[in-house]
Amino acid sequence: MKDTLNRIEAAALQSAAEVVSEAELQQVRARYLGRKGEITAVMKGMGQLSAEERPQVGALANEVKDRLEAAFTERQNELRNQAMQLKLVSERLDVTLPGRRQRHGSRHPITQVTEEIVAIFAALGFGVAEGPEIEKDFYNFEALNIPKDHPARDMQDTFYVSEDVVLRTHTSPVQIRTMLQQQPPVRVVAPGTVYRRDSDITHSPMFHQIEGFLVDRTVTFGDLKGILTTFVTECFGQNTAVRFRPSFFPFTEPSAEVDIQCVICGGSGCRVCGQSGWLEILGSGMIDPEVFKSVGYDPELYSGFAFGMGIERIAMLKYGVNDLRLFFENDLRFLKQF
Ligand code: PHE
Repeated sequence: MKDTLNRIEAAALQSAAEVVSEAELQQVRARYLGRKGEITAVMKGMGQLSAEERPQVGALANEVKDRLEAAFTERQNELRNQAMQLKLVSERLDVTLPGRRQRHGSRHPITQVTEEIVAIFAALGFGVAEGPEIEKDFYNFEALNIPKDHPARDMQDTFYVSEDVVLRTHTSPVQIRTMLQQQPPVRVVAPGTVYRRDSDITHSPMFHQIEGFLVDRTVTFGDLKGILTTFVTECFGQNTAVRFRPSFFPFTEPSAEVDIQCVICGGSGCRVCGQSGWLEILGSGMIDPEVFKSVGYDPELYSGFAFGMGIERIAMLKYGVNDLRLFFENDLRFLKQF
């Protein structure tokens, strides 16, 4: 019986040493010390022993039981520590590593310039209007005093959707839509996308314009000059020289193109300004009485001025960009500079 106990102890210690997890150890413990375990079985069998043997075997059984309890507990702690070490190594975290940043997007330079221009006119009391990019011939041409077969249609190479529908070639149709909707006084700017059949370093078939117009009683060419001069100095700097040069548009009379002193050479003449020292930045003029008639405004009562400019061109001059196509290639190395 004593031999049996010693063998059981040795086997139990061996098994405990071999297990690699607490769960396995739990099974070993049950096999030897559990209610149906081997030590328990020995103790149950003690009834058959003689009166002299029984206390000795009983004492030894209890000792073996205590030693095994102690050994199992020790092994349990050992396994627990091992598991913890493994976990610490596998979940190791270097808190000094720089974090992964969320990259911020930024507004496209054309959007930025548009917002800047709108803000300048908003400070002068102008509201903002928008219109459709697919436009009826009536709004894009007819109501702007450009009848069919008028040579002025050649000024803008038009994408026709159908006989009567075009991709708008300028933002001027928003003038017509706005005036048909509200009575004077009106003071509105209208930024938006426009389309022309044209493509080279300074022309893109899709580009952006911002239109502006003001109608009230007794608006004069002096008001036009004042507002547009203020715009130029706000946009390009207080010391920028401005020039108003006679021009022609079917929907304004008289008309003027506005030039600014060349931002590259400062007026002395260079390749960008074609040695003239000046750069054209917008078209403008007093709204033609014919336009007022087509929207039902009384030209005897009201007068006004209008202007339109290409946003890409303004952005190129402001930032010294020499190829218009850069704005549409979506190269982040370019876009990130704004
Ligand atoms: N619509 C004209 C163009 O696209 C610009 C313009 C607008 C001129 C308003 C005069 C008045 O060229």
